Amino acid sequence: MTPQKPINPKLPVLWHGGDYNPEQWPSEVWTEDMRLMDVAHVNVATLGVFSWVSLEPEEGIYTFDWLDDIMDLLVENGKYAVLATPSAAPPAWLSKKYPEILKVGPDRVRRLHGNRVNFDWSSPVYREKVRTMSTKLAERYGDHPALLMWHVSNEYGGASYSEASRQAFIRWLKAKFSNDLEKLNGAYWTRFWGHTYTDWDQIEIPGPPLGETAVHGLSLDWNRFTTDEIVDFYLNESEPLRQISPGIPITTNLMGFYGGLDAWKMAPHVDVVAWDSYPQFSQEPMNRRSWTKVAMIHDLYRSLKGGKPFLLMECTPSSSNWYPVMSLKPPGMHHLEGLQAIAHGSDSVMYFQWRQSRGSQEKFHGAVVGINSGEHSRVFRDVESVGADLQLLDAVVGGVTPSEVALIYDWEVGWAIEHACGPVQKDKGYFDTCLDHYAPFWEAGVAVDILSSDAELDGYKLVVAPMLYLLKPGVAERLTRFVEGGGTLVSTYLTGYVDENDLIFEDGFLGPLRGLFGIETDEIDAKFPSESVDVVMGYNEIGLDGIFQANTFCERIRTTTAEVIAQYASVWYSTEPAVTMNYVGDGKAIYVASRNDSLFTSALLNTLVTKLDIEPATPFQLPDGVAATKRVSENGEFMFLMNTTQETHWLGLPRTYRDVLTGQDLSESLELGPYGVAVLSENFEE
Ligand code: GLA
Repeated sequence: MTPQKPINPKLPVLWHGGDYNPEQWPSEVWTEDMRLMDVAHVNVATLGVFSWVSLEPEEGIYTFDWLDDIMDLLVENGKYAVLATPSAAPPAWLSKKYPEILKVGPDRVRRLHGNRVNFDWSSPVYREKVRTMSTKLAERYGDHPALLMWHVSNEYGGASYSEASRQAFIRWLKAKFSNDLEKLNGAYWTRFWGHTYTDWDQIEIPGPPLGETAVHGLSLDWNRFTTDEIVDFYLNESEPLRQISPGIPITTNLMGFYGGLDAWKMAPHVDVVAWDSYPQFSQEPMNRRSWTKVAMIHDLYRSLKGGKPFLLMECTPSSSNWYPVMSLKPPGMHHLEGLQAIAHGSDSVMYFQWRQSRGSQEKFHGAVVGINSGEHSRVFRDVESVGADLQLLDAVVGGVTPSEVALIYDWEVGWAIEHACGPVQKDKGYFDTCLDHYAPFWEAGVAVDILSSDAELDGYKLVVAPMLYLLKPGVAERLTRFVEGGGTLVSTYLTGYVDENDLIFEDGFLGPLRGLFGIETDEIDAKFPSESVDVVMGYNEIGLDGIFQANTFCERIRTTTAEVIAQYASVWYSTEPAVTMNYVGDGKAIYVASRNDSLFTSALLNTLVTKLDIEPATPFQLPDGVAATKRVSENGEFMFLMNTTQETHWLGLPRTYRDVLTGQDLSESLELGPYGVAVLSENFEE
């Protein structure tokens, strides 16, 4: 992908700002907010996310005056608005008058009014109301000089189990199976346990606690339908915005690798991808794994639209009140978190929230401006330092990240693995296994695109597809073409078990991938947490040596045309193949039959990086815990170096670079303090 233009030419710099809820405050506070935004180098405010009742306090009675004032105030102060449609918070009058708009839970009980995103995706009334509100907003603000982008709703998610939803699901199924119930029964293998449907109306929404859990094809289609219904809801909500203000980009903020929505299906319909990042300081403090995880999710969001810059729409400037333990970010951590997003392809750092609420659920949530603290808090100064650095990085805007490695992460595969009853019952670790395979690249400063299994693979040297359990039509052919054309593919245990309907392939596990890997999968042995199995490397052309440990999953495979490069030991199937490699066309397909330790995964992937001449972001060695990425914009190449540790590191530099953040030219070494960040450029013109 070539460098991109700014998301909106009105503001051709990195965006800094976030969720602003001025309706919670009197207008004197707004004036102070404008001053504070200047101090914090904030150029964007997200307005209206939960403002429906302030915009339409009674049905058909609109009160846009306060929003007019705040939009104008932003313009007077040289700032811009990301303007939200307020569907995430239907007003109480609406829920009272039209109770059918409310969500129905998996227990089939309709929820009372309250909380948020508490509506039924399939409610015709709600869809109509939402569309009317979008139309009103677009008519009033479509040409407003402050308007930078439309922010449709907020964090879409959560299925509804209403009758309207069931009926929509049945319509969706009829379309999918060409109105032929026999086809559906065949695809779902419903003769099992006598689950054959004899009428469409017998189909209920699956899932616990009340619904069907045994028909996996149905569960998978429910997941797919839920995504399609949410996308359809979004299309209805956003269409007036697109029609009335065609030049204004549209986005909706998504949530990491949240399982309730297949982001690959939403991405084609937004102009810019946006996500909300809250790396959880869950059971332990922020550590190497957490930084790696955020990096991978940023890369996923960068990849959702083929490498175009995305937006970090929300992060917390200090802590989130819903974290199990509300640890504060130590000095420097927030700065690193913000710049990490830019390093991975974001053109913004935005927060939830600008000003702390005095009451209700989020009164303890981190905010740029705390209660009665103005610009004097530590948090405010952290935010100000991010803003100051973003101003020095305007030349990065539109920058893309060339990548020779792709890692496949696919929501449908994740759903199918989750539904499977076996080979272990608890978390089968699909996302974590993808992260395990991402980590060695992150540590080596090698860029990775995260792709769905539907993606084209041309141009990559290495594709890693962990646990590719479900194969959609065409995937096996694309992977085969990739390898024949000279690519290297790495896959693991639990690959190619089922087709798109969650049926085991007729010729057994691996199905259409048997030829590519030159093996057959016979069985899978699940291990207890206390057990491990030795994996002993034999002579192999990749140059891997030693003994590694496997846990959780060990497949018993047989080779047909592949070479064995490692064997199991210390188990009753000792000497059977554990890692194989098959030459196909100009490339090779490597199969790792067991869940091996991180030493193995690092050794394998690092060796492949070297063998395949994959270029890391830096031409010099990175100390442990220092990550590196590259962005290439119309203004040049920028190398981001990020110290995720609390120790100071010195990096040896082979040539002179300009440190864009300090303006200094560095010729021999670079010192990176705790959580330190440097952005180096070779060819930067001021
Ligand atoms: C989400 C929401 C915000 C806010 C934050 C709190 O990301 O979009 O409205 O509730 O969580 O962390």
